[in-house]
Amino acid sequence: MSSTSLTATAPRRAAVVGCGDVAAIHLQAITDIEGIELVGLCDTDPDALAAAVEAHGAPGYRDLTELIEAARPDVIHVTTPHDAHVDATLTALEAGIHVIQEKPVAHELDEAQRLVDAVARLQAEAAAAGRTAPKIGICLQNRYNVSSVELKRLLASGALGTVRGAYATVAWSRSEGYYPSKPWRGQWARSGGGLLMNQAPHTLDLIQWLLGDVVGVQGHVSTDKFAGVSEVEDTAYARFTHADGTTTCFYGTVNLSTHRPVEIELDCEKAYVTLRDGLEVRWADGRTERHEERRAASSGRSYWGVSHELLIRDFYNRLDEAEPFWISPREATRCLAMAKAVYRASAGTPAPTATPISV
Ligand SMILES: NC(=O)c1ccc[n+]([C@@H]2O[C@H](COP(=O)([O-])OP(=O)(O)OC[C@H]3O[C@@H](n4cnc5c(N)ncnc54)[C@H](O)[C@@H]3O)[C@@H](O)[C@H]2O)c1
Repeated sequence: MSSTSLTATAPRRAAVVGCGDVAAIHLQAITDIEGIELVGLCDTDPDALAAAVEAHGAPGYRDLTELIEAARPDVIHVTTPHDAHVDATLTALEAGIHVIQEKPVAHELDEAQRLVDAVARLQAEAAAAGRTAPKIGICLQNRYNVSSVELKRLLASGALGTVRGAYATVAWSRSEGYYPSKPWRGQWARSGGGLLMNQAPHTLDLIQWLLGDVVGVQGHVSTDKFAGVSEVEDTAYARFTHADGTTTCFYGTVNLSTHRPVEIELDCEKAYVTLRDGLEVRWADGRTERHEERRAASSGRSYWGVSHELLIRDFYNRLDEAEPFWISPREATRCLAMAKAVYRASAGTPAPTATPISV
């Protein structure tokens, strides 16, 4: 009997830039997913960097370019504050390195556009040279939730009939120390906004992913509980009008004493659908169908959503494919544009009923 020698694929070399709270979930995924090796950590804060190096045993760098030259990673996870996303991501992509970048795609729309344009240029250059451009994926991981996938499938199948209207809420808690401990979170210039930019992007993204392009926005934002410590809003209301005329009413706040599950409800012709820790479909004929959500990995907080590792795993599995990763900067700009349109509506510029979004 002849023996077959198995050629082991070299592990993918991963690095993480920004060693704060959410980096923990990326580092856990790097450890848990087979075939990934952590080769570098980067943080501008020496204390955060030292703690990460101590915990994970990989070399640490204060500067991303230095990390790239010394550690030669295949994939960089960008988990910095919002205003540092695009610079870090472009530094990596221009060096030919794949990027998984945290949401939001950018803290401002012009920064998102800078990234979208650069990615298009890199893809065109790669195509002209007969190679594939480095991949970029944005962490909108809740698209991988059981409930989101099942609801998307039900809507596409036509089984639910016409959607009469939708309602969504993100109602969480933040401690008194949340903004002072990481000042960028409460600063417009660095975060680009509060609840709509930091806590609600996944839900805004699901709203438009499930129900279609948003063509009109009304709404307002306020800083109620955290007015003394934060410039950005802790509460928001918005009414989004989709291209087919359906409307979604959204309410969000971080001013509760505890976290409520994210909720999205669809009032449909043939069923009432509730997405809340899973999916419940109450059909007009009396049947009730339930799809349970999977449990969150222990390194994450359950209200962040349960699918970070799934997205990261999917991204690595698709690195050798020719097509760009499906949750691209352009795709992730849609929920950024929704947030920014609410801010404009709240400020009264332009008229709240005429805030078109086209990405
Ligand atoms: N997908 C999700 O569910 C989810 C959940 C939480 C946070 N996030 C996102 O993750 C990102 C980070 O949030 P966080 O709460 O972990 O922030 P954090 O403040 O806890 O951590 C950010 C780290 O980045 C470092 N940093 C700042 N500028 C840097 C730079 N230029 N280069 C290298 N390091 C730099 C900081 O020193 C800090 O250690 C944000 O974009 C946030 O919106 C996403």
